[in-house]
Amino acid sequence: MTDRTRGGRVSGGMPQKQRDALTKRALAARDQAYAPYSRYHVGAALLTAGGDVFTGANIENAAYPLCLCAERVALAAAYAAGHRDIGAMAVATTTSPPASPCGGCRQVLMELAPDAVLYLCNPDGEVDETTVRALLPRAFTPSALDNGTAGNSGKNPRVKATRPRAHS
Ligand code: THU
Repeated sequence: MTDRTRGGRVSGGMPQKQRDALTKRALAARDQAYAPYSRYHVGAALLTAGGDVFTGANIENAAYPLCLCAERVALAAAYAAGHRDIGAMAVATTTSPPASPCGGCRQVLMELAPDAVLYLCNPDGEVDETTVRALLPRAFTPSALDNGTAGNSGKNPRVKATRPRAHS
């Protein structure tokens, strides 16, 4: 589901005023990107069920595979502060149409914010609305682990002890 609604209430998501506030925070977070290698700046802002906003920007490293995406930085900040219920995330780039989260971030979003609405935006005011579920159909989720881990028939106590609670 991708929607470019510009006026009134945003379909399937939050009221326009709240959405605009979140995209604004993502655009501002973009300014904090540390991206000397790609020079591609990304900002993210997420909204928790309790109304708290956490932001992130991409943080790169001379060892390229260690680069952190903006979405994951924001998610880690929220989780580290004890938040688990994330309703929405705005992701800001200067790309037109607004760039979509990478495959790795889609997987992490599915784990940490599976019900989130996403607002992909840029400074020109373009906003594409979608969802985590729409971006990652047929995802590998925690519930897959409940169907047994190959070779241990679900009897491996270590697997049981470390398995996270499945999403309801
Ligand atoms: N990047 C993000 O922050 N989020 C994404 O979803 C895609 C890519 C960052 C990683 C890297 O620092 C730069 O953008 C170029 O790939």
